[in-house]
Amino acid sequence: MSQTEPVKVEVGLGDRAYDILIGPGLLSGAGAEIAGRLPGTRAAIITDENVAAAHLETLRFGLEKSGIQAAVITLPAGEKTKSFAYLEEVVDGVLAAKLERRDVVIALGGGVIGDLAGFAAGIVRRGMNFVQVPTSLLAQVDSSVGGKTGINSARGKNLVGVFNQPKLVLADTGVLDTLPIREFRAGYAELAKYGLIDRPGFFAWLEENWQKVFAGGQERTEAIAEACRAKADVVARDEFETGDRALLNLGHTFGHALEAATNYDGTRLVHGEGVAIGMALAHRFSARLNLASPDDAERVEAHLRAVGLPWRMADISGDLPDAEALLGFITQDKKVSRGALTFILTRGVGQAFIAKDVPPSEVLAFLKASHPERLKMSHSR
Ligand SMILES: NC(=O)c1ccc[n+]([C@@H]2O[C@H](COP(=O)([O-])OP(=O)(O)OC[C@H]3O[C@@H](n4cnc5c(N)ncnc54)[C@H](O)[C@@H]3O)[C@@H](O)[C@H]2O)c1
Repeated sequence: MSQTEPVKVEVGLGDRAYDILIGPGLLSGAGAEIAGRLPGTRAAIITDENVAAAHLETLRFGLEKSGIQAAVITLPAGEKTKSFAYLEEVVDGVLAAKLERRDVVIALGGGVIGDLAGFAAGIVRRGMNFVQVPTSLLAQVDSSVGGKTGINSARGKNLVGVFNQPKLVLADTGVLDTLPIREFRAGYAELAKYGLIDRPGFFAWLEENWQKVFAGGQERTEAIAEACRAKADVVARDEFETGDRALLNLGHTFGHALEAATNYDGTRLVHGEGVAIGMALAHRFSARLNLASPDDAERVEAHLRAVGLPWRMADISGDLPDAEALLGFITQDKKVSRGALTFILTRGVGQAFIAKDVPPSEVLAFLKASHPERLKMSHSR
């Protein structure tokens, strides 16, 4: 494979199958890729202010070269944009541009823009063509693939939306050079997640090569491609999350509880950081339940620490609610079925599984033992 040739990963969903192209410089060739698949199309680009400043002109030029005219809707950056108000703005903008069902909505941005634009594309004129151009690492390895789209409700995150698969995903690895390092690390947690779920060889490769992934070049492309292969496999097996797709939630139960416990305050914890701590906790918890060796938990913690990610609750600035309250966030986030909780646990690196029978009392005891207050007390003894 030459340095400039993008890697292609196919999401095998029958007549809704699509390609993910991964590599540097894809924005400037976006027009040819889209026109080749959707001839004669017009477009609306949905983006946020940060991404527009860095990459909008490159994409527009890349489209114009292939004769694709694009309206542009630029929204504020951040999670609050995944709302009914901005959904309405996007829908109205696409209709005002007089786009038809066979035209295309292009999401140029991170997971927030991808989720919002994908949802809008799914409902305008009962469903328009939709292309993902993910610009954050998290979006390239996770949210742009698999067709989950939507917005937040006042009652919780991601509660309103549709499954809507894109026609194409263009993951330009070069655009990640402008992503703030903290956001890059947060996306890296989701990348490492695929190794921890069922690709132990990939996790070992990341332990060796993570610095090259951060630096860019072929290793970055290869790591993102491997993550996309992993996600594409799961999505092709279980598009609507009735089974295996839940494995992708490794680290998310603890992670979501910590995000809620910090009031979704991105200055304290962003989503990928919550997932990093959550994955470390899932491994520790599995060791405590004698399902896995503590050596595996240590290995995961060591890697997260090496890349500069938070890996324990004590790494979150400010105070956290106590263990009972944290358990409350967990039970609020999930259905408690006959007194038991569903968790993604592990038998070791690359051996995650869905456990449907976890007693809340075990979770509580574990949270108490891992809580920063408890650690502070034991250090001061
Ligand atoms: N649909 C799914 O399957 C799925 C999966 C995981 C997460 N998500 C959703 O994804 C969202 C999080 O995504 P995210 O972490 O990408 O957040 P985000 O979209 O808010 O992007 C993070 C920040 O990086 C900036 N940014 C993005 N690309 C940039 C670039 N190339 N250069 C400079 N700045 C850039 C954005 O403006 C933003 O400030 C959440 O809403 C989450 O619910 C969805």
